[in-house]
This record gives sequence, structure tokens and C-alpha cells, in this order.
Amino acid sequence: MTNVAILHPGRMGAAVAHQAALNGARVRWCPVGRSADSAKRADAAGLEAVDDLAGLLGMSEIAISLCPPAAADEVAAAVRTAGFEGIFVEANAVSPQRVIRISGELAAATVDGSVIGPPPPAGSATRLYLSGPEGEVERVRTLFDGTAVEAKAIDGAVGAASALKLAYASHRKAAGALAAISHALAATHGVQAELTAEARRYPSTELMDPDYLPSVAARAWRWGPEMLEVAETLRAAGLPDDLARAAAAVFDRWADDKDDFDITINDALDHLRQP
Ligand SMILES: NC(=O)c1ccc[n+]([C@@H]2O[C@H](COP(=O)([O-])OP(=O)(O)OC[C@H]3O[C@@H](n4cnc5c(N)ncnc54)[C@H](OP(=O)(O)O)[C@@H]3O)[C@@H](O)[C@H]2O)c1
Repeated sequence: MTNVAILHPGRMGAAVAHQAALNGARVRWCPVGRSADSAKRADAAGLEAVDDLAGLLGMSEIAISLCPPAAADEVAAAVRTAGFEGIFVEANAVSPQRVIRISGELAAATVDGSVIGPPPPAGSATRLYLSGPEGEVERVRTLFDGTAVEAKAIDGAVGAASALKLAYASHRKAAGALAAISHALAATHGVQAELTAEARRYPSTELMDPDYLPSVAARAWRWGPEMLEVAETLRAAGLPDDLARAAAAVFDRWADDKDDFDITINDALDHLRQP
């Protein structure tokens, strides 16, 4: 039986911990400093409470950090102070640079993790991507064998799993902000139903279909100024225009690729990188 510490039983942490417990792990948590809501979730997930963090870590082979990303350093520092020497899973939505730094500061072996999908069990699968030292990744992966958490090892060192999450979030979360602004602008002008109908006619597939991106690069010379028109219209409606201006700045990096519909995907993406 593997002894696991969950830091801490939030919406995701409690649900992930529960799946590991269903699979035979003994999962514990530490109530010190946590809210009544965390305690309620821990109880519902059947987790055992241990009243001091050092004690909890001392009896655990694996510690999983699932907390607000802004608290990730604080949680890792507490683990370091406790002298934890097991496997530390940094499973938060933090940058690859940050997880690499956290890993360097710990005596524990670090596995980089990232969660995509809603807390389990849910309609769609919760994926826990893992990267880092092979043996440790495998130990963490097997915690979730056959559970509602689909744990997947990916090639790459610590940083790879976090990079995947942030690349995904970069589109998904920005798309949420963009859609909200589009609908607010359409509502200002009374054309929201038509906007929804148009969006349904041409569902977005950009992230699923990278082969579409060279044609974006080729048309960027035209789309940049169009985004500046969008920015003006948003500003007139009292809406934030930063994302529209940022998109125009991205398109500007493709200025030299005007109408080059034969550009390769690799070249198109390379041209976004500044020397
Ligand atoms: N929820 C999702 O749908 C989802 C999806 C994908 C990935 N994730 C990832 O999962 C992680 C946790 O998200 P969540 O939704 O579970 O968050 P959450 O429900 O807000 O829970 C966060 C947990 O961390 C604790 N916490 C809050 N501030 C802390 C601090 N300063 N130091 C230590 N612990 C602290 C909270 O305890 P108290 O509130 O009791 O203090 C709570 O137990 C995030 O990295 C997020 O990106 C979540």
C-alpha cells in the first residue's frame, strides 16, 4: 500500500486523492491552516487527517501538490522545510520554469504533473500528465491505474507536463475571454443571436488543426489592421481592447509572410519567436 499526502484537498485535490484511495492507496491530509470546506471535502473523500505537516510527510512516500498556482511555492517550501525525501508531484498549473526551480530546491525527487479536465469523476476524463524521472513517474502513474484519473506519462523532463498544460490553457482560457468580449460587443449592438448563429456555422478548430496556421500567417498582414478596427469598436463600447491589440501584435510578427500560402507550419511558428 502506498502512503500518499494530498496538499491540499481542494476541489481537484480531494477528487484526485479519492481516486487514488479507491485504488488502494492510503491518502492523508493535514488540516492545519485549511478551511472548513477543505475538511468537508477531505471527509467526503475518505481521507485521514494528520495534525502536523512534518508528521504527514514523514509517513508518506508520495506527496501531491494541488493548490492554487499562486500558493505552489509556499507549499513546496513547506515540503522542503519538513525534509521530505519521497516523491513530490508538482501538479499545479505553473510555468515549466517554476516547476524546474521548485524541483531544484527540493531534496525529494520531483515529478512534474498537470491536470486537464474537470475534477473526477466527471463526464469527460480527467487527465493527469506526468513527466520527469522515469521510475518515479511510473510509481505515480500506477497510483491511478483503472481509476477516473487517466494518468499519462509523457516523454520529457520536469517541465514538459507543465508546458503542455500552459500551452493548452493559453488557448482555452484566452478563448473564453475572447468569446466573452465578442458576445459583449455583439450585445452592445443587438446582434448577439446572429453572432451565435455564425459561430455555430464555423466552429473553431484552430487548436485541433495546426495545418490551418500557415494560412493565418499568410493573411496576418490583413488581419492585424482588422484587429485594430476591432480594438477601436471595443473601446467605443467601453469593453477591454487589450486582447484585440495583442492579436494585432502577434499578426505583426508575420508581416514578412504576406500571402505566402506555401509557408510551412514550422516556419510560420518560428516567425513568431523573436531572436
Ligand atoms: N478545479 C478544476 O477544475 C481544475 C482543473 C484542472 C486543473 N486544476 C488545478 O488544480 C489545482 C487546484 O485547483 P482546485 O480547483 O482544487 O482549487 P481549490 O478548490 O481552490 O482548492 C485549493 C486547495 O488548496 C488550499 N490552499 C489555498 N490557498 C493555499 C495556500 N496559500 N497555501 C496552501 N494551500 C492553499 C485550499 O485550502 P483552503 O481553501 O481550505 O485554505 C484548498 O484545499 C490548481 O493548480 C488548478 O490549476 C483544477
